[in-house]
Amino acid sequence: MKQKYFFANWKMYLTHSESLLLAEQLKKISAEFADELEVAVFPSALSVAAVSSVLDQTPIGIGAQNVFWIEKGGYTGEISAGMYKEVGAEYALVGHSERRHLCGETNHMVRQKIEAIVEAELIPVLCVGETQAERAAGQAVEVVEAQLRAACANLTYPADRTLFVAYEPVWAIGTGETCEPSEVAVMHERIAAFVAALLPATKVAILYGGSVRPENAAALLAQPQVDGILVGASAVKADTWRALAAACVAAR
Ligand code: PGA
Repeated sequence: MKQKYFFANWKMYLTHSESLLLAEQLKKISAEFADELEVAVFPSALSVAAVSSVLDQTPIGIGAQNVFWIEKGGYTGEISAGMYKEVGAEYALVGHSERRHLCGETNHMVRQKIEAIVEAELIPVLCVGETQAERAAGQAVEVVEAQLRAACANLTYPADRTLFVAYEPVWAIGTGETCEPSEVAVMHERIAAFVAALLPATKVAILYGGSVRPENAAALLAQPQVDGILVGASAVKADTWRALAAACVAAR
């Protein structure tokens, strides 16, 4: 039986008090799934510490949505990987498409961030994916491989840690359009092969993200190449979170 990962990216959907309320609800629900799930939530920076305290005695891990690549210093408004680690984070998203496309994050910046995440002993969840235009031009694989190469080539990665890659086609994020499960499987295979060539000694888990909903999660999770899901909008309500968690348990 292979456990599936269920990571929830809360983005900027919830205020601090809403984040705490959802964390309390998830704490209760998570008891239903006990050890059957590999699960984490990624609250806004403001709420990481408090949500981490609420979920302290549960199997739910905590992650940062973004980090800065320098540990400390005069970088107004930024937060380092080590700072997140200190308040309970285990994971960090890096290279999410909203950061790449809305905040101008480049492959070079993603590389600096992933190095900082590894250095701080957090687990990176590296997000990659093509835009609609790149897909239409037949460049999806090329774009994803360039993102992976920039982030992972010659990266010193600890042998005892899993590296997470989330395949999130940009056109599928927050749009209600999901990539066909068979296409996801093909891209995940390409990603697995490409990362294995770049980092042969590293264990990699590949998640799919982009409009995952309780209705389509089972078909995606049924693909053996899909190690889990990274979910935004559908994972910020307790009832849909529970349905997605149940889909992950059923897909093992
Ligand atoms: P979505 O977001 O589930 O709302 O499409 C996924 C993500 O951006 O991680």
